[in-house]
Amino acid sequence: MDKIEIEGGVRLKGEVCIGGAKNAALPLMAAAILSSGENIIKNVPGLRDVMTMGKLIAHLGCGFHFENNQALLQTKKITSADAPYDFVKTMRASVLVLGPLLARTGRAKVSLPGGCAIGARPINLHIMGLEKMGAAIVLSEGYIEAKAKRLKGAEIYFDMPTVTGTENLMMAAALADGTTILENAACEPEVVDLANALISMGAVIEGAGTSIVRIKGVNKLRPMNYTVIPDRIETATFIAASAVTNGEIRIKNSRPDNLEAVLNKMKEGGAVISEKKGKLSVKGPARLSSVDIKTMPYPGFATDMQAQFMALMSIAEGTSLITENIFENRFMHVAEMKRMGADISIEGATATVRGVKSLKGAPVMATDLRASASLILAGLAAKGTTVIDRVYHLDRGYERIEEKLRPLGAKIRRIK
Ligand code: EPZ
Repeated sequence: MDKIEIEGGVRLKGEVCIGGAKNAALPLMAAAILSSGENIIKNVPGLRDVMTMGKLIAHLGCGFHFENNQALLQTKKITSADAPYDFVKTMRASVLVLGPLLARTGRAKVSLPGGCAIGARPINLHIMGLEKMGAAIVLSEGYIEAKAKRLKGAEIYFDMPTVTGTENLMMAAALADGTTILENAACEPEVVDLANALISMGAVIEGAGTSIVRIKGVNKLRPMNYTVIPDRIETATFIAASAVTNGEIRIKNSRPDNLEAVLNKMKEGGAVISEKKGKLSVKGPARLSSVDIKTMPYPGFATDMQAQFMALMSIAEGTSLITENIFENRFMHVAEMKRMGADISIEGATATVRGVKSLKGAPVMATDLRASASLILAGLAAKGTTVIDRVYHLDRGYERIEEKLRPLGAKIRRIK
């Protein structure tokens, strides 16, 4: 298992280029199943999760080729409608093939994702929506077996906004008979990116990015030729890296309009952030001030940035309250940060972070994707050496992050 070693205390300086959004690329790859032909998706990040999704789509009988951040998906023929446990257990987002397979072939057999480190991750809302659209769904032996001659448009209300639930049902509705209305839909930029790609394939969708999305089903969709939006969580992670090292970096290829809540909180903490000629420039303060955050569905503060923000608050002036409202177990980075000298206590969904002068490097362990990113940030800020184990978590969501940080001055290397 690879490890990452960081010698902390360096102020980052220079320019970094952001890659394509993981959480947009994954649903876009699944959406290719709705068409029959050669789909080209550009600005796709070279991530483990992208390769896993590619292998799954190839398993369904499609062609998958990835080169120079472009994914080619030949979806002329689908020879299987099964997404086995082996794929789904390594990547929950595999469940995104459920809607497209059902819409394209009339059946789907997808392993229930099971939980993951950060929570139970149920998909009851995905299933509820598909049943409303006329699918017959049986859960047996850990699999969802869904059948529908042709899905019908329906009115679907989500008890709570679900990103992949909204995406699954939007894709299923694109080929359904009639109009589907998704209420209390997720508004994330990645949902909007998927809607824009589907519209480019011939789908009729209105309201993506708001909590009411209308999809008028069509009979056929043509293959996509689409470019993925920049990754807002990778962008926010580099903003955090500059903020926590009293650095001064410029960020290319970002979409600051997708990051309002996070940008506001970083500025409140003392980072000076401005946009010049399409680049974000981020100047970290000598010492951050404590800021409270509560994670919320978009456009609220992203849960995928909670761990990274906590790393910043661990050495800020004052005390910060960090409340995780989306997932029930997304504080596993706390124990690792405490090994580095952070002063954090957890009460239910809220962590109280008392800023300390500085962290001390230590051997730590990554537990999930965004926790690994938070430990990189902590290591960059800490005095001494930090070695992070189990960095395969990191590689799921960040493309060669150490190779992006090194040109900014970070003393960071991967130990095979
Ligand atoms: C997506 O996960 C993202 N993954 C996650 O990013 C992100 O943290 C999450 O949205 C929230 O923004 C992808 O897009 C591939 P949800 P998703 O359904 O869709 C509950 C990362 O680090 N819920 O929006 O699985 C659920 O338990 C990953 O890149 C139900 O109860 O999240 C959670 O509490 C981690 N029933 C809340 O809704 C359902 O049927 C939001 O989950 C579905 C969800």
